[in-house]
Amino acid sequence: MTSPVDATTTAAWSALAELKQGFAPDLRGWFDADPERAARYSLSAGDLHVDLSKNLLDEEVLARLLELAEQVGVAERRAAMFAGEKINVTENRSVLHTALRRPEGDSLVVDGTDVVPQVHAVLEKVYAFAEAVRSGAWTGVTGKRIETVVNIGIGGSDLGPVMVYEALKPYVQDGLECRFVSNIDPTDVAEATKDLDPETTLFIVASKTFTTLETLTNARLARAWLLDGLGDAAADQQGAVAKHFVAVSTALDKVADFGIDPDNAFGFWDWVGGRYSVDSAIGTAVVVAIGPAAFADFLAGFHAIDQHFTTAEPAQNVPLLMGLLNVWYVNFFGAQTHVVLPYAQYLHRFPAYLQQLTMESNGKGVRYDGSPVTSDTGEVFWGEPGTNGQHAFYQLIHQGTRVIPADFIAVANPAHPLTDGDADVHELFLANFFAQTAALAFGKTADEVRAEGTAEAVVPARVFTGNRPTTSIMAPALTPSVVGQLIALYEHITFVQGVVWGIDSFDQWGVELGKQLAQQVTPAVGGDEDALAAQDASTQALIRYYREHRTR
Ligand code: F6P
Repeated sequence: MTSPVDATTTAAWSALAELKQGFAPDLRGWFDADPERAARYSLSAGDLHVDLSKNLLDEEVLARLLELAEQVGVAERRAAMFAGEKINVTENRSVLHTALRRPEGDSLVVDGTDVVPQVHAVLEKVYAFAEAVRSGAWTGVTGKRIETVVNIGIGGSDLGPVMVYEALKPYVQDGLECRFVSNIDPTDVAEATKDLDPETTLFIVASKTFTTLETLTNARLARAWLLDGLGDAAADQQGAVAKHFVAVSTALDKVADFGIDPDNAFGFWDWVGGRYSVDSAIGTAVVVAIGPAAFADFLAGFHAIDQHFTTAEPAQNVPLLMGLLNVWYVNFFGAQTHVVLPYAQYLHRFPAYLQQLTMESNGKGVRYDGSPVTSDTGEVFWGEPGTNGQHAFYQLIHQGTRVIPADFIAVANPAHPLTDGDADVHELFLANFFAQTAALAFGKTADEVRAEGTAEAVVPARVFTGNRPTTSIMAPALTPSVVGQLIALYEHITFVQGVVWGIDSFDQWGVELGKQLAQQVTPAVGGDEDALAAQDASTQALIRYYREHRTR
């Protein structure tokens, strides 16, 4: 196995460290001195307009960051990923989510197989199924058309579908609704099904491995709910399950063991990571909701950004630059978090989606050759839609002591052009977006505060330092393509950071230990004294507390 270049030993890293020493960010001054700054640092990627100008960036920083990318081999690693080389070394797998959105007729041979026709064969199957549900040709066992699709999955088998479904609500066919169950807390299934009619409900069990405890448990609960609710209509249990359950998995044998007809299952491949899978059959709930044509548009959006990432010049390459800026903030400014603020209510699950994408990918302490990392990795991603966040946590971003790089996302055209009297409400909304990025960049000086007649004692509390870095991302409208573009953008940003840090951004061993321990602890929770005695003192006490207080 080759070893990653240690970024911290490169000339570019040393140059950046030195630059940082004397670096005095001055966004006010920089904008005043350079009327071209906004234009120079505003780039396009697909339909996305990305303004990097309010970042702590000048020509020298940019040059050194681009050198860093060159010295750690981002372009080579990117080529290896797109070509299907096994860059997920700890699982010995290719990383080919980008193949999921290659157009029909493209070709990519991996291990002797052209994967693109395979991708399109599954897509056709998903599309045919979705059309059947949408047209009413597919009915439940009693002949009623399907009105509600419940996706059962967790992690990447949930967060992608639910985020995209929410983002594309205006595209959902009338008379159809999707719900999403993920948590093994029985409340989740109970709430999702409590007002549903089993005769008109279809479950999609989405699990890459088809071994995930939460998903299989919830699928069994759903099956019991269905059979119970259907009563006599479910006399032929297998027949009823066949009409009300489909599955998405890479493990089609396990799907059959669960009792779902493999004809009603949609496959994908081990070269698609769970958090990179919404554009595979894992998106089946979305396809049913918005239809094949809109889903094809969604995939085309991803592909547009893939093309941009692979072909745009480094200085114009948006995912490359955004990834490098994140490295600049994490490793040279000590930024511990990164906030994503969609000024688009339909994107309200986007930050949650990005949490898995970024943190499961880059939350690593060893490099891909097993050696310890040589710098900080994986910042915490978080966020909420604007303007809600403004009235909750923006205080910390404006005046707190930490650097919190922020991505603002907005679209020009709203899905609902409502007015309040003469006021266009979308304009009021976007005025906040524009105002916030300006306030963060340019702040408010003590003299400006005084000029408002503020009492001297209160002046310090009302000063805004400014120089708080933001990136503004805008698009014409929140179309399926634009949602695909946004996802692909962040996938590639995450990739760039992972390459600089020398880590395997595509494994997730960190979630395994908890899963194993939960299995060991389960008998103890159920009353097995030997299993309880094997736990540590704190865990024993917690389990005893639970057992004493459970009133069932
Ligand atoms: O939490 C770990 C994880 O493996 C994620 O990477 C994945 O998206 C999720 O569990 C669900 O896994 P599966 O799709 O196999 O049920």
